[in-house]
Order: sequence, then structure tokens, then C-alpha cells
Amino acid sequence: MIRLTRRTFMGSTLAVSAAPRWAFPATEVLRSEPVSLQILPEGQNATALLGFNGSSPGPELRLRQGETLAVRFENHTDQPSSIHWHGIRLPNAMDGVPGLTQPLVQPGEAFDYSFTVPDAGTYWYHSHHQSWEQVARGLYGPLIVEEAVPPHVDADITITLDDWRLDDKGAIMGGFGDMHDFSHAGRLGNYAMILPSEKTVRIGDRLRLRLINTATARIFPVRIEGLNAKVVALDGMPLSEPRDLADMEIAPAQRVDIIGDVTAQIDFLFVARDGIYEMGSLSVQGENPSPANTDISALPRARLPDLFENPDKSLTLRMEGGAMGGGHTGDNIWAFNGASGLQEKPFATFRRGETGIIELINDTNFPHGIHLHGHHFHELDSDGTPGDFRDTSLVKRGTSQKIAAVFDNPGKWLMHCHMLGHQASGMKTWIEVT
Ligand code: C2O
Ligand code: CU
Repeated sequence: MIRLTRRTFMGSTLAVSAAPRWAFPATEVLRSEPVSLQILPEGQNATALLGFNGSSPGPELRLRQGETLAVRFENHTDQPSSIHWHGIRLPNAMDGVPGLTQPLVQPGEAFDYSFTVPDAGTYWYHSHHQSWEQVARGLYGPLIVEEAVPPHVDADITITLDDWRLDDKGAIMGGFGDMHDFSHAGRLGNYAMILPSEKTVRIGDRLRLRLINTATARIFPVRIEGLNAKVVALDGMPLSEPRDLADMEIAPAQRVDIIGDVTAQIDFLFVARDGIYEMGSLSVQGENPSPANTDISALPRARLPDLFENPDKSLTLRMEGGAMGGGHTGDNIWAFNGASGLQEKPFATFRRGETGIIELINDTNFPHGIHLHGHHFHELDSDGTPGDFRDTSLVKRGTSQKIAAVFDNPGKWLMHCHMLGHQASGMKTWIEVT
């Protein structure tokens, strides 16, 4: 379901309890095309970007758990492309990875995506070709899957966080494949802001905020003020116990769901070493006459398979290379286990339903956010107990993180750094589930 305006969005939300479910058109069209966005202050130039159906971020696709998303992707740009549905456990052929799961969609061509969404949560879609450039130019949007019975909130607001590298006229700067960027932290922007789906709230409103980091390289250090809140989900997956909202670091592609009550204007702050910067705010307009007075409780548990006590395989994935890093045997800037880029053979093969543990070892001087397609995994605590579910794990330099998953989704699945310049310069591999 595509909701283009605030009015249709609010209408549907309010209608949920009383009216019958809204009807889903059989097929929506997502059209990638040139768009513009006001990033510099009002009165200065808008920035020419790429987007979907007239905007970047593209339209919010919103449906209910278990429903089918059917989208015809039409490429109206001058570069080949594809769409990946980040975090969704979907059939492999719908995963949107050119060369691995589908052919490139050439300019003027279309591709039909259709799959059911098994898990409620906050996801997103983005280009998966030349993504270090196409995502940086704006080819992405939110994909929201509502619970069968969503928790009561007064407003459900999606907040994308992004940064852009602009010249002083507001034009996006070239040099997308810059080796210096790739070998360091990636292409960091010089303007950052939030793009909220609504701009005003009322004192006393209970909100659900869905944060999505769509940047290609930036880890956002975020503080949210004006909200008495708990974190209820990470990367779409519910936490078993909601946690108090605190400062957080959100790596590229990661999501955070927050439920809380408005106490003042809501500020989204970028907490840097040299100061605290405003990335945007939701301003207050009036007061909610009947604020929620219930506790914020856990979202319904995700229906993911349980890990087996004894894993069928334990593997190691070592991140190597980059500036100031050690040598490796790969043929590009970055490598996993001595190999750069997709190899003929997968990094690992699992029989359907096997449990695997992968130790992600960061042997480089930069943090990396490692994303596995088609599955969610547990981050294991240091004593091996399964912690949070994630689809993208931030591994700081010189540290390691074990992840564990039941590999129950057959196909060829990419695993890569979501700092997209790192992916482009070697940090990717694939896993096969047979
Ligand atoms: Cu969000 Cu392979 O990507
Ligand atoms: Cu990386």
C-alpha cells in the first residue's frame, strides 16, 4: 500500500478499529526518476536527486503482516538498477540482487516484485545496483509492516536519517567511486537531517517512531529529547523487554522503533565529539485531551525459528584491508577472509534449517555494519547467549561479534558491509542455503 500524503495516512490509521480493512490494489508502481529535495535552508536551492514516484525518500509502502506486496518497478532513470527489500524474509528471486537473484533492470524497463511479508516491523527498500551512488542519490524508501494488532499509538511516524555531500549551491557532488572515501569510512555527507513523515505532534501524544538510517556510510550518534520513551524493536525485530531510550549509534541500514509519550518539542540531536547538532524536530501543536496511561509493553514476539543448542556449523568471517589496515590476499581495497568481492563459491553452504554461528572479526581500522540478506540473526552475548535479533550488525574496529541464525530460507544470499563504498570495493560475499 502506498501512502503518499499525510491525509490518507491518518485516515487509514483512524479507520483501523472501526472500519473494514482498506483494500490493496493488486499492483503498485514504483517509478525511479529524477526528483528534488530541499536540503539547504528554505530560500536556497533545492537538491536534484533520484527518488521514487516524485520524492526521495520514495513513498512509504505500508501493509499488514502476512499480506502480499506486489510492486512493478519501472526504471525511469538513465542507469540500470534493481530494488532490494532490506530485512524482509522473502523468496530469493525477489531479493533484488543483480547477478545473483535477477537481471539488471535497464533504463526504460520494468521488473515485477511480489512476496508476502512474514514479520511485522520497520524495513526499507533501496537500489541494489551501484548502490554507493544510487542510494546516496536518493533511491530508497520506507517499508512498514504492521502487526496483526498494532499497539495503540496516537501517531506512527517514520523518520529517515540521511546525509548528503553537497556543494554550496546545493548540488550533490560527484566523485562517487572515490578510492580515498572507499578506503576510509566511506562517502560521508556534509549535510545531515531527518526526514519525518509528520512534522507536528501534541503534548501527551503516544508516538511510535520508526528510525531508519538510509545513509551509505554515516553511523548516526542520536539523542532524542522531548519524549518519555522506550526502544521496542531493532532492525524490525521486537525486543523481548522494551529498553529505556538512551543515546544510540545507528549504523547504515539499521532501524530503531521507539514508543513514547510527548513531553515537549521532539529534537533529534547529532551527538558529536565537538558538539551537539540539531538534525530536525517535531514541533508541538496543542495537547492531547486523553493521553495514554498504559505502560509501554513489548511488541508481539517475532515468529522466527529457535536456534538449535548445538550449531551445525561455526564459521569465521574476518574483515580485512582499508586504510591503515593490514595486508590481505584480495584484489581490492577490502576483503573477507582474504577474498575481495563475490567469489565463484559461497562463503558458506547450509542445508535448510541448519543453525550456523558466524564470528565477525573486524581486523581493520574502521567500523563496519555487516548485513545478511534473507534472514535475521541473533547477536550473541560474550557468553554465547542469544541477544538482539538484527539484520545488520555494527562491529567496531578491532572487535568481534558472533551472530547465529537458523538458515531456513533457500537461495543465494548476499552478506556485505552496508557502508556501501566498502561493499563496492571488496567487502561482500554470499551464503547458499540448499
Ligand atoms: Cu540493504 Cu544488500 O542491502
Ligand atoms: Cu565496511
